Amino acid sequence: MPHSKILDYPNVRLQGTIEVPGDKSISHRSIMFGAIAKGKTTVSGFLLGEDCLSTIDCFRKLGVEIDVEGTNVTINSSGIHEWKEPKEVLYTGNSGTTTRLMLGILAGTTLHTVMTGDDSIGKRPMRRVADPLRLMGAQIAGRDNGQYTPLAIQGTQLKAIDYTMPVASAQVKSAILLAGLQAEGTTIVREKEVSRDHTERMLKQFGGSVTVDNGVVSIEGGQKLTGTHVNVPGDVSSAAFFLVAGAIVPNSEITLQNVGVNPTRSGIIDVLEKMGAQISVQIEDENAAEPTATITIQSSQLEGTTIEGDIIPRLIDEIPIIALLATQAKGKTIIRNAEELKVKETDRIVAVVTELQKLGANIEATEDGMIIEGPTKLHGGQLKSYGDHRIGMTAAVAALITDTPVELDDADCIAVSYPTFFEHVNALVH
Ligand code: S3P
Repeated sequence: MPHSKILDYPNVRLQGTIEVPGDKSISHRSIMFGAIAKGKTTVSGFLLGEDCLSTIDCFRKLGVEIDVEGTNVTINSSGIHEWKEPKEVLYTGNSGTTTRLMLGILAGTTLHTVMTGDDSIGKRPMRRVADPLRLMGAQIAGRDNGQYTPLAIQGTQLKAIDYTMPVASAQVKSAILLAGLQAEGTTIVREKEVSRDHTERMLKQFGGSVTVDNGVVSIEGGQKLTGTHVNVPGDVSSAAFFLVAGAIVPNSEITLQNVGVNPTRSGIIDVLEKMGAQISVQIEDENAAEPTATITIQSSQLEGTTIEGDIIPRLIDEIPIIALLATQAKGKTIIRNAEELKVKETDRIVAVVTELQKLGANIEATEDGMIIEGPTKLHGGQLKSYGDHRIGMTAAVAALITDTPVELDDADCIAVSYPTFFEHVNALVH
């Protein structure tokens, strides 16, 4: 049973330095590539969140040897062709990335597999991945005409496709690229708006090749990958909660170390700067496979802004916390072109608008986003997380500025991406 939590932070300020845990997207991919590749892969800075542990569990069921010691992971694999057919269902928990990317990987094996996840996964659209994979020859069956989990996959020889993405989605792009790795010919994915490129970057780390030119990604089938070392930077999507907290809690200054600042993910930094936040970004290693930075933020006078177009995929996971940020900014903030929020762990437009309204925010839903008018003094209340980690953390950051406590129905779901979230809140609260 989920535990409710009283969040009571009267008159606090935030002060100090933290290192947010490893990037969720990169942690998933490190296991996937380590399992596909032949040889030993070592990973440092791995995120021990529930989603990434689901990925590990699935690959163990496929016979891949994976050892976890703290945030260091070692993967020993004889390569994708040596995986064994699992006797059990592969359980992907709450993780869309695990479910969708694995669909692309498993489609090109010789194995029969069945995948399912929790209630939230059971509602998330899978045809956006299964349909292009079917064009490659994949044999995938699923509930409700192939749309939802449980999914059954009979691995088969795939052929390359040239696919234009109907939605901006790194999960769809990555699933096709991972399938393309096993397919005959050159698979091409065309993106109108660039989504996160961790798959493309990591493929190169494992000795593979992929070309990216003006939104056109090409991958040759039949490539052999070799085990390597992957260093996972801190997750900018987790850092976002503390960047916003630092900006909206009075008299605060927070430093976040080792934050991944891959340009396909760093839209939150652009938004904070545009809204007038006191933020400094010190790039540490620009030439790393995934660049990192130390970021410092101080309490700030904020102005409303419009967030739309091709920045949306660069901050899609940060929109719940950006909505809270906007409640403290002067004027109107408009978020458009963000309909993808409706098919995340929960409908995040409904969830964010409903919960922030309960605290007195001036926020309304639109067809493809939301409109927020600020600044508003927020009060406490009883909030729901909808079992969604990012809604849970948005509620917790809101509680730092409410004049009375917030009661959050399920704080445990935060462990999906940030198991040490409340330890970090407590370390910063003064
Ligand atoms: C992810 C891609 C995004 C993001 C999710 C992780 C990934 O989803 O929302 O949290 O690791 O590829 P979409 O690609 O569906 O937008």
